[in-house]
Amino acid sequence: MEIQVLREDVTRIEVEALCLGIFQGLREPGGAAGAVDRALDGALTKLLQKGEFRGRKGETLLLPTWGKLPARRVLLVGLGERERFSAETVREAMAAAVNAADRLSELSTVVHGAGVGGLPPEEAARALVEGAILGRYRFEKYRRSDERDAPRLERLQLVEFDAAKVEALRAGAARGKAVAEAVCWARDLANEPGNALPPEELAARAQALAHECGMRCEVLTERELEAEGLGGILAVGRGSARPPRMVVLEYAPEGREGERPVVLVGKGVTFDSGGISLKAREGMEAMKYDMAGAAAVLGTLKALADLEIPVRTIALVPAVENLPGGNALKPGDVITLANGKTVEVTNTDAEGRLILADALVYARRYSPRAVVDLATLTGACVVALGKEAAGLFGNDPDLLDAIKRAAEESGERVWELPLYDEYKELLRSEVADLKNSVLGRGALPPAGAAAGATFLREFVEYPWTHLDIAGTASDVETRLYCPQKGATGYGVRLLVRWIEQLSRS
Ligand code: BES
Ligand code: MN
Ligand code: ZN
Repeated sequence: MEIQVLREDVTRIEVEALCLGIFQGLREPGGAAGAVDRALDGALTKLLQKGEFRGRKGETLLLPTWGKLPARRVLLVGLGERERFSAETVREAMAAAVNAADRLSELSTVVHGAGVGGLPPEEAARALVEGAILGRYRFEKYRRSDERDAPRLERLQLVEFDAAKVEALRAGAARGKAVAEAVCWARDLANEPGNALPPEELAARAQALAHECGMRCEVLTERELEAEGLGGILAVGRGSARPPRMVVLEYAPEGREGERPVVLVGKGVTFDSGGISLKAREGMEAMKYDMAGAAAVLGTLKALADLEIPVRTIALVPAVENLPGGNALKPGDVITLANGKTVEVTNTDAEGRLILADALVYARRYSPRAVVDLATLTGACVVALGKEAAGLFGNDPDLLDAIKRAAEESGERVWELPLYDEYKELLRSEVADLKNSVLGRGALPPAGAAAGATFLREFVEYPWTHLDIAGTASDVETRLYCPQKGATGYGVRLLVRWIEQLSRS
């Protein structure tokens, strides 16, 4: 979608529809809406006073202007209660607006929040563009073109009367566009079905991205995985005819090639059947999203490169397909991971931690300033938090604080869970250094999400946080502006915010 910022009076804009935000309980529109109301002979005031439009969050109403304005329609969008207004409200309003204007090709809008809402203009424009692009997203690659239902909107214009705000609005809109497009890129990748995206293809997509954005990308094949001792990735990969890979994607802004990087690790299980510890059949198709962490970290590098954020950042993606083939890893097998620790595999469905552990050890070579991993790691995290937040774990209070701040600002929620030393007991093995899962005979095993994080902690030697995105990665109805079931792209907005903050500190 094309985004423009224009300094103009809204009553002079010639466009298919003009979007105005209305707070709940408003009786008489002011500002831009007031000017439009006067041009329409008080039609908006009448609607509001009759209660035909209440301004509830997400409410929309498309009205003709009968030639009284150069804009052919007015699209009212509810902003909810004025006291609860935030950047989140702006995203929500615009996601609703683009869907209400789905048959139109262009929309002009006032920048909700940049005036009476009290948001800094840059933040308001960023949130507005994010909401519009995210809310418009559909995954329709595999549908017949005549059955597609994505909004047709091609152009979004932000209109501001005050010339002093225009520059900040342009900057915010450009950031919002780059970040939201990176989220959509991640959604597209994670929405690919398992048959279309084996580990090799996931790696090829990363290479194509690197080519487009001028980044360096290296893909480790089995020989190199062997040479590096990445025994977890190899062991999990053995059950599939489609070989494992590890992607190393580097964004090194000019002049920063030598600095200690941020490393982002994304779980790239292109399909998780559970392996020999086979999952139940119901809902197994959702395990194509088990590479959503990979999609998020790759999408983040795309946004960083597009915005030229001056922070060296490396994405590591261990990519495997977890299938129960004749050569597959079995319960009881003992494997050796990249740092020499041995693991008794008690459940082949706890595969994510095995491949992530290798990648976390691999990250040490960069002396990273911080490492964040994103993984659809445990069903237990979904039990704990539902789809409302990702589980957050870590070993460094400052890093945890920074991630929480980025979550607040981006709207992608996290909730910290503990990493008590006592959880290590859960992973004690009689035959190896660790076991990979807690056996649940009958009852659910305790602290499943923390057990996964505790396992990973055994492999890190730097400031680190782990985000369990099992709940937030797919099929979320609110807050992530994902109008369809499917991948949400969760993590891109959060990580970009965090790295932007690092670039300022
Ligand atoms: N990919 C799954 C976790 C998952 C579950 C993601 C539901 C999204 C939705 C992961 O590999 C897994 O199977 N975890 C096991 C761990 C257990 C065997 C210790 C789980 O959660 O059951
Ligand atoms: Mn699994
Ligand atoms: Zn998995």
